[in-house]
Amino acid sequence: MADWDSLWINANLATMMPGPDAYGAIADGAIAARDGRIAWLGAMTALPPNAARKTARVHDAGGRWITPGLIDCHTHLVFGGDRAGEFALRLEGASYAEIARAGGGIRATVAATRAASEQELLRTGGERLDRLCADGATTVEIKSGYGLDITTEIKSLRVARRLADGRPVAVVTTFLGAHTVPPEYEGRADAYIDLVCDEMLPQIAAEGLADAVDAFCEGIGFSPTQTARLFEAAKARELPLKLHADQLSDLGGAALAARFGALSADHLEHTSADGVAAMAAAGTVAVLLPGAYYTLSESHPPPVAALRERGVAMAVASDCNPGSSPALSLQLMLNMACTLFRLTPEEALAGLTRNAARALGLAYDRGTLAPGLQADLAL
Ligand code: NIG
Ligand code: FE
Repeated sequence: MADWDSLWINANLATMMPGPDAYGAIADGAIAARDGRIAWLGAMTALPPNAARKTARVHDAGGRWITPGLIDCHTHLVFGGDRAGEFALRLEGASYAEIARAGGGIRATVAATRAASEQELLRTGGERLDRLCADGATTVEIKSGYGLDITTEIKSLRVARRLADGRPVAVVTTFLGAHTVPPEYEGRADAYIDLVCDEMLPQIAAEGLADAVDAFCEGIGFSPTQTARLFEAAKARELPLKLHADQLSDLGGAALAARFGALSADHLEHTSADGVAAMAAAGTVAVLLPGAYYTLSESHPPPVAALRERGVAMAVASDCNPGSSPALSLQLMLNMACTLFRLTPEEALAGLTRNAARALGLAYDRGTLAPGLQADLAL
């Protein structure tokens, strides 16, 4: 009766399905795919007779583990230039915010990204994406936010979409026009938010270039009022929301994201108990970014114990970007989520699979191993 395209045998499966075992583990199991979907999974002893003979390709996993394909739900991997010099400045004592206020930081990458050709962005972004794939990623979110003018925001999102072509990975895009105020709008943040809401967002939505909308709510980014304006505009176009919230200070970003029913609030180093409670009530996912915490030598970790206690789903992501997290290893992020943020290994893996899918609104389709879901596997 089996009629499958592919079958992996002699595998330990971490299905990540909720249940008594935190990994949803099936020891000594097998998993089959048909038409890109999971068709069957279970113990080797339950494999239908003749299954191997009726399958086009049989792979012997040799006792290794198969997990859902890893999902990097927060990256900024399309950018020009590099910011290695800022690393040296921070070692000498400059802070991330000081460098940003002096015209470096995000604005330095904006200048380099505006100057880069689409071909150049495709090449460098492709190299980064290949490294994430080699580390087990099968779905990667990519944000814009280094253009901050309509031409470059659209260029970046087009590049992000095209990066999936010919690669074994799905790319999900997020419009982050509200990443910081570009130099030509210095001192006119409200006018820039007008541009983002009234010109960029409509055009990007019309071209179908964004799957979600994000903002950087922070002293060196945008105020809660400005963020709320953008969120209203995005909601009017039925675009899901995400937020860089409470990374360097507590502006109430987590609660703001929750109030708007955002898919996720990300960073959260300075989120208060009220913010955690609001996220729990709204079902907003907490995206934890240990690479940024590490790179910026932060000492105030996100409120993991409170998130856990309130039952807020925790995702983990690379935050790959040239400034705060020049990181391309998801396995290192698993490690850092445990060592720096005290997640359990089970929570960390759920953070790169099941909960990362939720942070992208894709849990119906991926992030766990179950019949009918996409056959995205990491061996
Ligand atoms: O997620 N915090 C704002 N955005 C990025 C950093 C961007 C940059 O420094 O280029 C982040 O850490
Ligand atoms: Fe980020």
